[in-house]
Amino acid sequence: MNLLILGSGGREHTLAWKLASSPSVTSLFIAPGNAGTATCGTNLKVDPMDFQAVRKAVLENSIDMILVGPEVPLVAGISDFFAADRELSAIPVIGPVSSAARLEGSKDFAKGFMTRHSIPTAEYRSFTSADIHEARGFLKKFDPPYVIKADGLAAGKGVLILDDIDEAEREAREILNGKFGAAGARVVIEQFLTGIELSVFIITDGKSWKLLPEAKDYKRVGEGNTGLNTGGMGAVSPVPFANEVFMSRVRERIIIPTVEGLRKEGIEYKGFIFFGLINVGGDPFVIEYNARLGDPETEVIIPRIKSDLFDLLEGVAKGDLDRRTLETDERHVSTVMLVSGGYPGEFRKGMEVKGLNDVEGSIVFHAGTSPADGKVVTSGGRVLAVSSYGASLREAVGKSYSEVHKLDFEGVYYRRDIGFDLSEQWY
Ligand code: AMP
Ligand code: GLY
Repeated sequence: MNLLILGSGGREHTLAWKLASSPSVTSLFIAPGNAGTATCGTNLKVDPMDFQAVRKAVLENSIDMILVGPEVPLVAGISDFFAADRELSAIPVIGPVSSAARLEGSKDFAKGFMTRHSIPTAEYRSFTSADIHEARGFLKKFDPPYVIKADGLAAGKGVLILDDIDEAEREAREILNGKFGAAGARVVIEQFLTGIELSVFIITDGKSWKLLPEAKDYKRVGEGNTGLNTGGMGAVSPVPFANEVFMSRVRERIIIPTVEGLRKEGIEYKGFIFFGLINVGGDPFVIEYNARLGDPETEVIIPRIKSDLFDLLEGVAKGDLDRRTLETDERHVSTVMLVSGGYPGEFRKGMEVKGLNDVEGSIVFHAGTSPADGKVVTSGGRVLAVSSYGASLREAVGKSYSEVHKLDFEGVYYRRDIGFDLSEQWY
């Protein structure tokens, strides 16, 4: 089987690392990939958003299956594009069609879907320019802080949490006036929920589903969860508070109604669903859905899958996922993200990465790197993720921190407290 992975981040390097070890994968291609994926397979200079270029690459390299990493091509309809192409319709694309990827692509759709299927989520209302004058009355129902969201994809920037009601109303209007471009044709205002967040993942063929390991990510740039939001500065798996009781609530109240709800609405969902959840006093609520795996969550959950991941992807493609097995590793995995100074604001690129061969016993997943004349240089804000196993969370985190200092590039920064908030449950 020739497999093509679309994307270029830490998630895609992790998927490439795992799938390269599958006995069923003969040739692995990654488009566009990074310096890390180049060690697992062949990088192709193709932009995943250029569907015609992807099509050409698929035909030229006799690709048998495509695995889509990021959400943008999914929401833009890459699965629909392949399904509609006479020459390519037999090639499975692992990732939902655009009508299903709306779970991530439109917060208004996701909230409506959850309401229709009684899935616990924050109370909300959507507004357009036509009824935004009613926003103030709705905001007054809640105590601060206020949660304001652009409806569409806004590269992780479309959520505002504000203490002041005037500012909340003003920002809602600014979103409608184009602050986040077309993503803000609608704005969602919702109740603020207090609790600890976690990321839960399933893989589904549209009928049956399997639960992947869960993870907790660390979104803020600064220690103690301070500073700006980022794509994620580190992650751990498993999550200590995701115990049997909590996870059975997640299954009964969230996962089953979601998969059943999609089916009832005639939406065929094939791929991963990422449930961004919040634990409110022991009860799970959905903060958001994503139509893909998380990053850096992938860097801790995929290493905990013992089974052949390709077998599961084939189960999705053939619609017989219920006949495949998913075995997980009991060990803990942590990842610490090394980022470029200035991220998530402005940062430099092209700095040489040193020390890659010095790391021992941990796995270095590349997030934003490029190969350059036999060297590896930085090409993104998030640069490397150092993932480590441990018999306990403490051991896994300790191992990542014993290795990160061996890696270096100009202006390197990382959080020194990944997993520390869970330290009561470290052992
Ligand atoms: P989202 O892009 O929807 O995941 O939102 C980004 C972040 O904003 C989430 O990870 C939460 O930390 C926070 N957030 C979003 N919605 C809410 C909410 N209703 N209550 C509390 N925090 C929220
Ligand atoms: N780490 C959160 C995300 O991938 O959206």
